[in-house]
Formats: sequence, C-alpha cells, structure tokens
Amino acid sequence: MAGLANEEINRIQSQANIVEIISSYISLEKQGKNYFGVCPFHDDHNPSMSVSEEKGLFTCFVCHKTGNVFSFVQDFENVSFIEAVRIVASKIGIEIDTGYRETDVYSKHYEAVELTLKFYQNNLKSQEGLSAREYLNKRGINDEIIEEFNIGYAPTNYDTICKLLTTKGFDEQILVETGLANRGNTLYDLFRNRITFPIHNPSGKPVGFSARIYEDINEAKYINTKETPIFKKGKILFNYHRAQNEARRLKYLIVVEGQMDAIRLYASGIKNVVATMGTALTDDHIKLLKKLNVKIILCMDNDTAGEKATIQNGEALSSANVDLSILRITGAKDPDEYILKHSKEEFEDAVKHAATYFDFKLSYYKKDKNLNKVEDVSNYINQVLAELNKSNNQVLIDLTVNELSQEYGVDKNVLLNQIIKVEPVKVNKIEPRKEKKLSKNQKLSSILLYYMMNDTKYIRLYEQELGFIPDEKYLDIANDLLAFFLKYNYINIADFITYEISSDKYEQVLAIVDNNIRIELNDADYVGIINKIKMWIDENKINELKAKLKSITDINEKLKLMDEIAKMKKRMCQNEES
Ligand code: GTP
Ligand code: MN
Repeated sequence: MAGLANEEINRIQSQANIVEIISSYISLEKQGKNYFGVCPFHDDHNPSMSVSEEKGLFTCFVCHKTGNVFSFVQDFENVSFIEAVRIVASKIGIEIDTGYRETDVYSKHYEAVELTLKFYQNNLKSQEGLSAREYLNKRGINDEIIEEFNIGYAPTNYDTICKLLTTKGFDEQILVETGLANRGNTLYDLFRNRITFPIHNPSGKPVGFSARIYEDINEAKYINTKETPIFKKGKILFNYHRAQNEARRLKYLIVVEGQMDAIRLYASGIKNVVATMGTALTDDHIKLLKKLNVKIILCMDNDTAGEKATIQNGEALSSANVDLSILRITGAKDPDEYILKHSKEEFEDAVKHAATYFDFKLSYYKKDKNLNKVEDVSNYINQVLAELNKSNNQVLIDLTVNELSQEYGVDKNVLLNQIIKVEPVKVNKIEPRKEKKLSKNQKLSSILLYYMMNDTKYIRLYEQELGFIPDEKYLDIANDLLAFFLKYNYINIADFITYEISSDKYEQVLAIVDNNIRIELNDADYVGIINKIKMWIDENKINELKAKLKSITDINEKLKLMDEIAKMKKRMCQNEES
C-alpha cells in the first residue's frame, strides 16, 4: 500500500461516516436502522442500495455491489484505492500524503497553466489590459466576477508566456504540450491580445483557457486550448467544479453553451450551471452529469444551432436515462442576454416551466410546417408516432394519440395501429447472486460463515469449538476470517471483502452475505449450527472408519475399530438429543 500505513487507513475509516460520505454523492433516506438510495452502479430506478452506518457497509439488493466507504468512492469516482482513501480523508478534513497523486505525472503541466493563469490575471489589471477591462465592464462583468472566474488578459507580444515559463525553468516540451505555445519557426504564445477564461477540471484545477477577442478584428471569436494530456475536451465542462455542490443541493443543473452564459448565470446567483463550450456532450460529459444524480435543464442558445444542439444533446442525455427538461429562451439570443434583459427571477421562473424533452420534440417537429396542408400534417403525425414508438410509457402514448386524434381529426385506432409495438426496453435484470443448489451441510456452513462475518465472538467460538469445516471452499473462507480477526482484532463484512478476499472468493463471499442477510443472529442458533457441523464431521469420520474396517483382517484391530465407531455413534445420538 504505497506510502500509506494500514493504521492510517483505519483511522480515516473510523472517522469517516459512510452515510455522510455516500450522501455527498447520492441522496439517501433513512428507513429503520439503515439508509436507502438509488444505486449508482446499475440502471436503478428504485432505491435498492442500503447503507449501514453501524456496519460501515453499503450493499445493493439488485446488482449486489457491496463494500465499504473506500470501495464506494473508488467505484463512483473511478479512481484507484489510494486515491479513494485520499478523497475520503479530504472530505473529513484529514490531509494525507499518499505519496502518489494522479496529478503527479503532469505536475509540471498543471504548474505551467497555473502560473500562466496568474500572469494573465495580473496583466488584466495592468495598463496593457485596460481596453480588455473596459470591454468586460461594458458587458457587465465587474471586478468581482473577474476575480471569481480568474479572468485575465493575454498580452499582444508573441512570446511573453514562452519567455516567462522558460525563465522559470519549464522545458519547451511542457509549453507545447500544455497548448500554451506553438512551435513554428520559433516558439510563440498561442493566446495573444485576448481576454482569457481559465477552464478547470472537475476537481477544480485549471487545465486550459478559452480566450476571446474584445475588439472588432477579423479573427475567430474564441480560441480554446487544444486537446492536451491534462485538458480533455470531452471530459470537461466549464464551471463544473463550482457548480456541483449547488446542483446537488438544488437537485438540478443548468447546461448552457457558452462560458459567458455560465458566468452570467453564476454571477446573478444561479450557481448550478455549467457550459459545454460549444461542443456536443460526450459520453464522458454525461457520466459527469449523471454523477450528480440531479435533473438536467438543457438551455442552449436561441438560434438554429442551439436548436440542433438541443436535439443532439437531448438524444444523448435521454438515452442515458438522464432526468431531462428543455428550456428554450425567447426574446434574447442566449441565457447571458436573457438575464441582462430580464432578471434572475424571470430565468428561474422559466426553469420551473421548462418542457419535457418529449414536448420539446413535438414543438420542434411542428416548426416550419404548414399544418393546414395535409402533407405536412401527415409528416408531423408520423414523426410523433415514431417518437411514441420509442416510448414504453403507455399513459403518454394514450394522451398523445388522443390529442392528435382530436386536433387533426384522425381516427384514434388508425393512429394506435401505426404504433408498431416495440419490445419494451429490457432493463438489465440482474439475477440475485445466489449460491448454487446447496446441500443441507453447505447451507449450514454458509450460515456459520455469515455469523462469523458479523461478530468476533462467533469467530472465537468457531476457533474453540470447531476450527474445521469439511468443505474446502467454506473452510478456506473460515480461515480467511480467522486470519482477518487475528490481524486486525475486529470484524466487518465490508472491510473483510475489501481487504482480505482474493478475487476468486469474492463472488462466494458476496453470495453468503446475500443468502443470509435477512437472518437474525442469535447465540443459541449459532451453537446449534456448530453442533450440526460437528455431527457432519463425525459422520464423515464414521464413514472413513467403516471403509477402513473393510480393509482390516486382524480381528482385534477390527473389534477396536468397531468399538470406536459405536462410541462415535453414541456421541452423535447424544448430541442430536441435546
Ligand atoms: P459571447 O459572444 O462572448 O457572448 O460568447 P458566447 O458565450 O455567447 O458563445 P457562443 O454562443 O458564441 O459560443 C458558445 C461557445 O462556443 C463559446 O463559449 C466558446 O467556448 C465556443 N466558441 C465560440 N466561438 C468559437 C470560435 O470561434 N472558436 C472556438 N474554438 N470556439 C468557439
Ligand atoms: Mn453570448
């Protein structure tokens, strides 16, 4: 465990409340002793994940994912174990040095961007940045917003950043790889005479810039950092790091196109906003959005491109089962202008009345059609029916068909017949992870191990009374439990699974948990189970002795063996009676 001692991990774990940590990712509700939430590890629609504060364990009753606070973070954030420990630690205010950070490999790259950001920021405040500052102020971007978003100004000179970073000891390679400079005949700055908007990754580290012209010149309005090792366009949404907590709190997130839109909304107090920076949402973007587990309000610009983006992003989001609404603003070209012309309150009101994606598509299909013309009506109806074909929502189908029928005077049955019944989309039904056809004795062993996983006293009793199970697989796990107890002096299912189980036993241990999770632990029952396993052991022994008996010829030996068998049988009978 590179650079991180077990004691350190245990300390963090004992201080981290699993319910609080998991709540920072998904919403949990208390039911009885445990907490329940919608499982983020499969396509879940009901709260199937239970979190036990007492046991420090989460488990999903549908997909059977089980683990402790670290494995949750590890899988949710898709990071290494060490990284998960670091994240949990930082959430509870413990700073640890894991001796490894994901940013380490590219630390020089991050540093170069950070330094450049600072330089641009200061430069905006200098005499050289005056016209840029005037432009920003004219757009209603005051000093406070400039500060909050670290807005800056890239100087006109062709190699200011190149010189600055070189003097600070950065190699040419870093300059080029971060996209801050290009190599032509000489090395030159990429951003010149532009207002710079830093772009951060989801953890809040600056990784690139979007840079805007501010004078009427014939150049691209924005130049953005190209794809670099630390700036992956498809994985970055402008303002995500600032917006995520507010989005979780308010249970929705607004997605706009331009960073200026995001900045305007944010500055007006609507902080749960991110910008796509004009690109189409990728699968990775959608993963980032789904992580928040909130409703998405898609609010693209009020133009044809924005409409296209709405359809394209809307399709991607809705097929990823994102809870989605569409906000089409009117009377302004984009959310930025809308807020300036209207108000924060009016925008929020529009958000409340945002349309479903389905309704948006209906109005989209209606546009540019002359619905007094039979041909257009027929085209429109067919488009709507094609949408209904994709839906499994019988109520929606019925309502829409009724409406179409009334509005255009088409027989309802004709419309319904057009809806080719597509097979309902199969929700990945995951079979419960049951142990396969257990014999009576295997079932006993399974229960025995479940007891041991829950309380050290059952491990101790096993050690004193039994110490053996006549089934290799179960014995193996019993030995692992014993070893865990001897090493750490406590037992906890989640930790046992996380730290001690080799991957080949993982499934079986989870099956044992699944099979027995509903039983109530009771000392008397446990003693009963131990006795039954003893009898199983004795039975095996008797069978062995009987086999041996057959091969023995010496009469005295034979008698001795028969006596032994009789004694064993007697003991078994006594056990059975007690
Ligand atoms: P403002 O004119 O400053 O209000 O910009 P905007 O926020 O309204 O941006 P717009 O809707 O024009 O474009 C959306 C996003 O696409 C911008 O925020 C940029 O990230 C990106 N973008 C716009 N124009 C260009 C361009 O010329 N080149 C590149 N690479 N990106 C652009
Ligand atoms: Mn704009």
